[in-house]
Amino acid sequence: MMKKVTILSSFLLVFCFFCLQCYCEDGSMEAPMEKWEQEALYFAIQGFVGNWWNGSDLYPDPCGWTPIQGVSCDLFNGLWHVTELSIGPMHDNSLDCAPNVTLTPHIFSLKHLKSLSLFNCFTTPLHQPVKIKTEMWETLSGSLESLEFRSNPGLVGEIPETFGHLRNLQSLVLVENGLSGQLPTNLGNLVNLKRLVISGNRISGEVPNEFGLLKSLLILDLSRNALDGYVPLGLGGLSSLLKLDLSSNQLEGQIPEKLGNLKNLTLVDLSNNIFSGGLTKSLQEINSLEELVLSNNPTGGDLMSIKWQNLIGLKVLDLANMSLTGGIPDSICELKKMRFLGLNDNKLTGEISPKLASLPNVSAIYLNGNNLTGELKFSEVFYGKMGRRFGAWNNSNLCYQIMLKSAINIPFGIRPCGVGDATIDELSPLQESNFGSENWMNKKSHSTASLRIVTYGFRFMTLLEILIFVVAFIL
Ligand SMILES: *[C@@H]1O[C@H](CO)[C@@H](O)[C@H](O)[C@H]1NC(C)=O
Ligand SMILES: *[C@@H]1O[C@H](CO)[C@@H](O)[C@H](O)[C@H]1NC(C)=O
Ligand SMILES: *[C@@H]1O[C@H](CO)[C@@H](O)[C@H](O)[C@H]1NC(C)=O
Ligand SMILES: *[C@@H]1O[C@H](CO)[C@@H](O)[C@H](O)[C@H]1NC(C)=O
Ligand SMILES: *[C@@H]1O[C@H](CO)[C@@H](O)[C@H](O)[C@H]1NC(C)=O
Ligand SMILES: *[C@@H]1O[C@H](CO)[C@@H](O)[C@H](O)[C@H]1NC(C)=O
Ligand SMILES: *[C@@H]1O[C@H](CO)[C@@H](O)[C@H](O)[C@H]1NC(C)=O
Repeated sequence: MMKKVTILSSFLLVFCFFCLQCYCEDGSMEAPMEKWEQEALYFAIQGFVGNWWNGSDLYPDPCGWTPIQGVSCDLFNGLWHVTELSIGPMHDNSLDCAPNVTLTPHIFSLKHLKSLSLFNCFTTPLHQPVKIKTEMWETLSGSLESLEFRSNPGLVGEIPETFGHLRNLQSLVLVENGLSGQLPTNLGNLVNLKRLVISGNRISGEVPNEFGLLKSLLILDLSRNALDGYVPLGLGGLSSLLKLDLSSNQLEGQIPEKLGNLKNLTLVDLSNNIFSGGLTKSLQEINSLEELVLSNNPTGGDLMSIKWQNLIGLKVLDLANMSLTGGIPDSICELKKMRFLGLNDNKLTGEISPKLASLPNVSAIYLNGNNLTGELKFSEVFYGKMGRRFGAWNNSNLCYQIMLKSAINIPFGIRPCGVGDATIDELSPLQESNFGSENWMNKKSHSTASLRIVTYGFRFMTLLEILIFVVAFIL
């Protein structure tokens, strides 16, 4: 072991000597940078990766011929300055954080830092929780454009108000950390922000109305927190917005009508909240919409009130478990780009249009867990292509047309029409209307009729069983 180290270090020595010679001859090979900034960089990195890491030994020229993975530099007025620092296991030779890491103040000496990213760094929330310092961020306000803390469960406490002073920030990403408290309202000052992603933390309270001032914002993702209250009207001012994800919070009230103003939105995800008051009509005005996900909300209302044909670019429509009532409008069958249609676990009624099969790119349609009725009139080819990605089960009054001869591809969990337990249920309303209740003779005749169907069903089942048996035997 000792020997190995000696050999390695002597090799390094020779190597260094060689290199030194190189630029003694050349004279200008070392990237000039201020000594104190270089020291600050070493200390900052050491704070993350541990004291074993000796920068001046390993990387004597960090902006020049000994580049550090995760560190970038730029030349300003003849001097090199550190502009990017990213720590965390992103590449094979990335700088990884030590288990008991702290946030050292040395990063604040890197006055030209444009981008700071800490990934998978603070990982021991129980043993050594770390808070983001509130002080010092002003020192980076002139330079910092991107700040990212991702997958740091040990990073706890509140989002510092002082982030609101980072006036050049274009991207603030705080994903899957242990942050709590409320969203600072003064983040609304960051008028250059294009991306604001604060998801997978334990942030509570309301979404500040001031966020509506972020006129450059393209992506707003506050998903998977504990936000509550109403969506502020201010968000209707985010006219550049492409993606809005507020899913998995406890937001309430109506789905905001102002969303209709945001004409460039391609994604709206408000799933897993407590939005109520029906589907907001203005959704039909977001013509650029590609993904609309509103599932798992007690929204209520019906699908018929929306002109779905306006949303011609829609690829994903997930409206599962929203207490929706009424029928499925034919206009949904006009959305030719549709790939995923989820209308399951609602209270939808009426028949299922076979036109759904004409959606050219559809790969999943879930209609299960509703109160849809009648006969499914899709082709066997369609059932074969979709398999269980065509979900129609748990609609007690739904059946499929019995295909003659071979019925290899049948919809999962559906009985053939005229067969099975539900036969009698299905006929009981008939009993009321058609036969009335004048005399028992009629009732009796109806019973015989229904009995006959049951017998037919039985015979069909036996046939099916024989068929399965024969097939199994051949195989
Ligand atoms: C790094 O190593 C050099 C000698 O190789 C030593 O002088 C210096 O103090 C060390 N720096 C740190 C921060 O340990
Ligand atoms: C981290 O732990 C090591 C040993 O477990 C210790 O030597 C070192 O001082 C600790 N560093 C910090 C910053 O707590
Ligand atoms: C919406 O997108 C179009 C095309 O990408 C762009 O020209 C327009 O400026 C955007 N609108 C807003 C308000 O950002
Ligand atoms: C359906 O939505 C309700 C809230 O409206 C929620 O409590 C429930 O967990 C959801 N069901 C599923 C299966 O997600
Ligand atoms: C269907 O998908 C293919 C391949 O992704 C694509 O080229 C085509 O434009 C899509 N069709 C429609 C109508 O969206
Ligand atoms: C389904 O609809 C029928 C009337 O069409 C109604 O009697 C029944 O209660 C409904 N079932 C469910 C589960 O909502
Ligand atoms: C139908 O719904 C019941 C409860 O509502 C559930 O237990 C069952 O798994 C569902 N069936 C299928 C095939 O999903």
